Amino acid sequence: MELNFRNRRVLITGHTGFKGAWLSLWLERLGAHLSGIALDPRTERDVFVLSGIGQRMRDYRADIRNLDAVLHIFDQEQPEVVFHLAAQPLVLPSYEDPVGTFATNTQGTVHILEAIRQTPSVRAAVLITTDKCYENREWVYGYRETDPMGGHDPYSASKGAAELVIAAYRRSFFHQPGSPAIASARAGNVVGGGDWAEYRLVPDIARALESGQPLDIRSPNAVRPWQHVLEPLGGYLLLAQRLLDAPERYAEAWNFGPLPHSIQPVRAVCDAFFEYFRQHSPETQNHPGWRDISSPDQPHEAGLLMLDISKAIHRLRWQPALTFSEMVALTADWYARYRSEPVRELCLEQIQTYERLWAERC
Ligand SMILES: NC(=O)c1ccc[n+]([C@@H]2O[C@H](COP(=O)([O-])OP(=O)(O)OC[C@H]3O[C@@H](n4cnc5c(N)ncnc54)[C@H](O)[C@@H]3O)[C@@H](O)[C@H]2O)c1
Repeated sequence: MELNFRNRRVLITGHTGFKGAWLSLWLERLGAHLSGIALDPRTERDVFVLSGIGQRMRDYRADIRNLDAVLHIFDQEQPEVVFHLAAQPLVLPSYEDPVGTFATNTQGTVHILEAIRQTPSVRAAVLITTDKCYENREWVYGYRETDPMGGHDPYSASKGAAELVIAAYRRSFFHQPGSPAIASARAGNVVGGGDWAEYRLVPDIARALESGQPLDIRSPNAVRPWQHVLEPLGGYLLLAQRLLDAPERYAEAWNFGPLPHSIQPVRAVCDAFFEYFRQHSPETQNHPGWRDISSPDQPHEAGLLMLDISKAIHRLRWQPALTFSEMVALTADWYARYRSEPVRELCLEQIQTYERLWAERC
């Protein structure tokens, strides 16, 4: 692996969230000097809280909808590398609060780009959007980076709009030699230990296992590109490294999806998780599993969504390292162990395992 973040000043937005906490732990392991901007963590058992990573970085609690607050923190920190993950990241809540979703995801991204523009230390930035930024044609082909932006629901549209903002800032302000190199990263649904978000499948499975109740599934046949959280995070790190090494070659949009074997319906993920717990966790032996509660009048959610990752494979030399069952095992293992083991060590052990597999296979 060619990652060199030792002693670099790295700022992460959304570091209290699921992906941000894992990314912070990984960058700390790589020797970066870290700071973060985010709201408070969602629960007391988030990776951010349980791992104690907040005590090992400069932990700013600020709202990215507040431009002055963002500018002030960038000015204080003078980061070299920025990872922007802060967002309202869920589809269903975006129907309840479209204004807040657009304000955070679209205008918030404007604020981060503006802070990058006004902070001369920044050399590279990776801004995280989503696979849902594409205009969804419900077709069987993977979306390519050149496909049009779109989005049916407020969340998807707010991220499609963020992509347009990123492209406009790049063309307008970051095109001169010596400008910061700005890339966007589009990944699909990720799973991994310590996600407790509402309306997400793996947290719902973990909660159902703890409560002993069956899990109700709205869209068992919806096909999604599943990935372990460390797969796209490895992609973001590699992309940032490439931006530092050759800014003019990589400052564009990149897909980080799974290989075809991990593009699976929701029902396959449910079956694999419940089976893992049946085999490895005796106290869940009698759990009733999941049941199909799909109905025709539920809010629209995209049915089929896949990413084409040829560009990342060929030009970044990135590719997923885990099989579908390894992804399930690594994730389920975290939920099986987090109550009895120190979470920081558990996460670092999983990161180390992942780094080894990545080095062997990619
Ligand atoms: N988890 C997934 O499956 C997935 C899939 C595709 C894309 N993404 C994207 O990855 C990023 C991280 O997602 P996640 O799953 O870790 O989400 P998360 O909800 O766990 O974390 C979101 C983070 O953003 C911060 N945040 C939210 N609103 C903010 C605001 N107004 N000001 C400052 N900080 C704010 C939160 O405090 C938190 O730290 C998001 O941009 C999301 O859209 C996630």
